[in-house]
Amino acid sequence: MSQLETEQYLVVGGSHGIGAGVVHRLLSAGAAVINVSRTPPTVDASDQLTHLSLDLTSGKLEKDHLPERLNGLIYCPGSINLGPLRQLGRQSMLEDYQLNVVSAVECLQAAVPALRATGAASAVFFSTVAVAQGMTMHASVASVKGAIEGLTRSLAAELAPKIRVNCIAPGLTNTPLSERFLSSEAKRSAMADKHPLKRVGEVEDIASLAAFLLRPEASWITGQVIGVDGGMSSVRG
Ligand SMILES: NC(=O)c1ccc[n+]([C@@H]2O[C@H](COP(=O)([O-])OP(=O)(O)OC[C@H]3O[C@@H](n4cnc5c(N)ncnc54)[C@H](OP(=O)(O)O)[C@@H]3O)[C@@H](O)[C@H]2O)c1
Repeated sequence: MSQLETEQYLVVGGSHGIGAGVVHRLLSAGAAVINVSRTPPTVDASDQLTHLSLDLTSGKLEKDHLPERLNGLIYCPGSINLGPLRQLGRQSMLEDYQLNVVSAVECLQAAVPALRATGAASAVFFSTVAVAQGMTMHASVASVKGAIEGLTRSLAAELAPKIRVNCIAPGLTNTPLSERFLSSEAKRSAMADKHPLKRVGEVEDIASLAAFLLRPEASWITGQVIGVDGGMSSVRG
């Protein structure tokens, strides 16, 4: 872990949910973290943690906001808007695409000079289990996250060998984003039962892989989409 002492990471969306778990892991490993989100992180208070307040739906991260060197970037904002085909609307689909894809690209564009400057950096994005496994009502989220998977492989080719690009595809994970699906014991138990491993995900299940992919230990991994989903995408329960 000592090798992380001078490393610096950009966590977009580290105020709560999976991103907060990543911030915690990186700080614990001795790294410095710049968090970008609308509200500041509440869990970790540290001299090594800087907060930049920005709403990505109305503003854009610029490279002037960032230091000269970054070891990694993780982009966490996302949405889970569910509904049938007849309810898919242009505005909500464009909003999903903006938050999940366009803002992710803009953040990476801003960070690339600083990531290149370290010579061996990493970027991590988020997809969803609903891309690999067709699920009713998931057309909007599956299509924007499918775009992220293509983006990951394409940018992994374009940015090699200096910047690795990988993607995590979580199953249902206990965070503020998924609160409405897990708001009662009955819902939680029904959701757990759908998974071969018989539980929903917790922040640590995802944050541990994210921190690993960001760090030098994963230095020979790029262009991958890795499912962390209790077996949902590939195992018949
Ligand atoms: N949780 C799940 O079940 C699940 C399943 C599959 C995939 N995923 C994906 O995994 C990723 C992380 O999910 P999560 O559950 O941790 O999400 P979350 O609990 O909603 O956290 C998202 C983070 O992004 C920030 N954020 C959201 N909108 C923003 C905006 N407009 N501008 C700036 N920051 C913004 C939030 O901070 P502020 O609110 O302070 O701005 C927060 O720090 C997402 O891409 C999600 O689609 C999650």
